[in-house]
Amino acid sequence: MLELGTPLQHGAISSINRVFKSAMSEQLGDKHHNPMPEQARLYQRWAEGQVGICVSGNVMIDRSALGEPGNVVLDDHSDLDAFRQWTSAADRQGSQLWIQLNHPGKQIPAALAKVPLAPSAIPLGRGLEKSFNTPRAMTEAEIRATINDFANAAKLAKQVGFKGVQIHGAHGYLVSQFLSPRHNQRQDQWGGNAENRMRFVVEVYHAIRAAVGDDFPVGIKLNSADFMKDGFDESESMAVLTTLDNAGIDLIEISGGTYESPSMMGANQRQSTIDREAYFLEYAEQARKQVRCTLVVTGGFRSSKAMNAALQSGATDMIGLGRPLSLYPDLAKLAIADAGFIADVGNPTTGVKGVDRAAMLSITWYEAQLRRIGRGKLPKPNLSGWYAVFDTFGRLGKHAFVKRRG
Ligand SMILES: Cc1cc2nc3c(=O)[nH]c(=O)nc-3n(C[C@H](O)[C@H](O)[C@H](O)COP(=O)(O)O)c2cc1C
Repeated sequence: MLELGTPLQHGAISSINRVFKSAMSEQLGDKHHNPMPEQARLYQRWAEGQVGICVSGNVMIDRSALGEPGNVVLDDHSDLDAFRQWTSAADRQGSQLWIQLNHPGKQIPAALAKVPLAPSAIPLGRGLEKSFNTPRAMTEAEIRATINDFANAAKLAKQVGFKGVQIHGAHGYLVSQFLSPRHNQRQDQWGGNAENRMRFVVEVYHAIRAAVGDDFPVGIKLNSADFMKDGFDESESMAVLTTLDNAGIDLIEISGGTYESPSMMGANQRQSTIDREAYFLEYAEQARKQVRCTLVVTGGFRSSKAMNAALQSGATDMIGLGRPLSLYPDLAKLAIADAGFIADVGNPTTGVKGVDRAAMLSITWYEAQLRRIGRGKLPKPNLSGWYAVFDTFGRLGKHAFVKRRG
């Protein structure tokens, strides 16, 4: 019977088990945006915990376009030795470290870019207008250069020892902005109908494939939908999945939502969906009928029971996990050994709702846990909300509470 502990071998994808660590931005880049030693220690810990495939937090492909102040960047100016230390620390117990490559497009906090680039000059809505500046529409040359940056970062990633590459095509960043009819209103070959809006991601995929070769695993994290009126919806998402599958992509991770509508973190989900744990499983069931590549569903999983049930339903090949792995670095071992395992992901709060919101505690509290692990400490399930507020402020100063990830 297919279970969390069952190894996976499918085309270029292999894994010691079905546990897939989904990207969580660690913000452990130094002032030159190279990974710090804490980053290596954090991933060594997950590898020792026998995560099958471990995807890095989003690594930026262009240092003039950061999604967060502490991002890691992989480009021709990066210190490749620092990246090699990271990948070699994570190369343990058969666990594999992949890199997630991202360009934020217009989801760059206002303090980090006066005029961000995006498919069209359309600002973010839903109260985010003050936190993010109105973007400028990219020129054809800028689009081509960005596709090149993705491919160059993928080539460097392979060179420094990552075992796979994941395109961040979800959560409202640049790739997802191109896909969205709401955010991409271009009249040229990169916008308008669904086929044109898909062109950017397809070209990014082909450029990465050409850079890393046929045998190197390439995947994407894609939204099932943006959950916005006039946004990218399930039928368009299904068309993108099918196109990338036909083009030869190895793995598709399904998520959903954007900064404007953060469904990936459980917002807007029905209680019955939250109780069932997997936010996007119904969509994955449909996707499974359309694609041959490895599928991963991420968002909401907490118990071995729900993880094994999702695997046995056939809708997904691996279980994507974010927050639970920030509190249980040994989750893979624990959940494989114990069919009754349930991860408690806490309820981070300072006790003052306004502070929780302003400090984005639903993100920064988990980042604080990642930093603890990176410093060689244990995660702390009862970590005070105020600790996360001061820790983030101490590290990032005035940039601490720039809006990110909804
Ligand atoms: C601190 C934090 C950072 C995150 N950073 C990223 C990221 O860099 N890239 C990404 O695709 N998703 C990111 N996510 C979203 C997670 O990958 C995942 O989709 C989400 O947390 C839902 O899964 P979960 O319920 O298992 O936590 C982040 C989530 C958290 C909590």
